[in-house]
Amino acid sequence: MFVLRAALLLSSAISCVLAISVPNERRAIAAGTVQTVHSFPNGTIMENLAIRSNGQILATIITAPNLYLLDPKVNSTATLLHSFTGYQVVFGITELKDDQFYVVTGNATVATMTSVQGSWVAWRVDMNAYSRGSKNFVSMVAHLPGPKMVNGIGVLSKDAGLLYLADPFGGAISVLNVNNGHQYVAINNSYTVAGPPFTTPLGANGVHVYQANSRATPYVYWSNTAQSILVRMPIHLSDGTPAGNPEVILSGFETDDFTFDSQGNVLQAVMGSNSIFRINPNTKKFTVVGGSVNSTDLAAPSAIQIGRLDNDKNVAFVTLNGGGKVPGAVKMLNM
Ligand SMILES: *[C@@H]1O[C@H](CO)[C@@H](O)[C@H](O)[C@H]1NC(C)=O
Ligand SMILES: *[C@@H]1O[C@H](CO)[C@@H](O)[C@H](O)[C@H]1NC(C)=O
Ligand SMILES: *[C@@H]1O[C@H](CO)[C@@H](O)[C@H](O)[C@H]1NC(C)=O
Ligand SMILES: *[C@@H]1O[C@H](CO)[C@@H](O)[C@H](O)[C@H]1NC(C)=O
Ligand SMILES: *[C@@H]1O[C@H](CO)[C@@H](O)[C@H](O)[C@H]1NC(C)=O
Repeated sequence: MFVLRAALLLSSAISCVLAISVPNERRAIAAGTVQTVHSFPNGTIMENLAIRSNGQILATIITAPNLYLLDPKVNSTATLLHSFTGYQVVFGITELKDDQFYVVTGNATVATMTSVQGSWVAWRVDMNAYSRGSKNFVSMVAHLPGPKMVNGIGVLSKDAGLLYLADPFGGAISVLNVNNGHQYVAINNSYTVAGPPFTTPLGANGVHVYQANSRATPYVYWSNTAQSILVRMPIHLSDGTPAGNPEVILSGFETDDFTFDSQGNVLQAVMGSNSIFRINPNTKKFTVVGGSVNSTDLAAPSAIQIGRLDNDKNVAFVTLNGGGKVPGAVKMLNM
């Protein structure tokens, strides 16, 4: 997310990459417990994250063009992995193939909620290469001239190399082919545009695909922060275009990015509620699995991903934009 707030500090690089050790007592921690993986300097607004197959966390911030690497444990250091010189912010991040991540950068000013169309670029972050010690593990994939901004990104097709890109100011969701740079608007409807109650000016924000099994209907899900909704819609997996009507599955809550649990429920970062909701998309019922409106434990959560280590299956990692109350942080939520 992107909040009305002055950008302050350029976070500094810290430490080397440590061997991963995750405490086994994690299982004994009560559901709903929130612990701090890392708190960034005051003024940092965190945006999004992805988890490596080795459990490590890749996290983006929008108060500097920086991508960080953290360990999935309490009091991790944050290693500055890459600074995208010439850009102001790093938004969405997703893994397309094993340890091949994609991020988007561009120019946007948090304080004025403005973005420069034409400044947006998609990049590949090759963590295999990084692990081999390569210095050239970040490469440009494509300029994105169309979107007014690119916020959340999600995988449409691993095999075909297709990503969804949410444009909250343009009010649409595009598809990018990372292999040839081909890009087009795939989804543009009354639920992708910014609209009432306009809790922010941001329409489509987080975007992810869920298909229960290879024969089940594939859905794209997206959050729309301005409209305070979460929507899903059947799609054609070949090109990401609509294959049915959009359906609102949560309304009345200021949604940011989200992910899915192993049952296909949505784990939704609800910025305006300082909480994570678990939503059953079929019944549309939800429960709060962490945080609360008057607590800063999960102040203005911006994105969530489930841990990938064997003992991380009930652990979610959450980035906080902080809502102007606390510095951006990566939190660990037991579910
Ligand atoms: C963090 O920065 C804000 C804005 O500059 C300031 O009001 C606040 O006092 C700072 N908090 C801390 C703990 O330094
Ligand atoms: C994390 O750091 C805090 C503050 O320095 C400290 O009180 C706490 O014991 C540390 N926890 C772990 C598990 O390292
Ligand atoms: C983006 O911002 C950077 C740093 O402020 C500037 O050097 C660059 O020219 C800008 N690019 C565009 C396309 O506006
Ligand atoms: C979405 O569709 C409307 C017309 O239905 C059009 O005016 C608008 O430019 C489209 N937006 C994008 C980003 O393609
Ligand atoms: C949060 O705080 C407000 C104002 O103090 C109070 O009215 C409300 O009941 C609180 N909500 C919860 C869930 O604690």
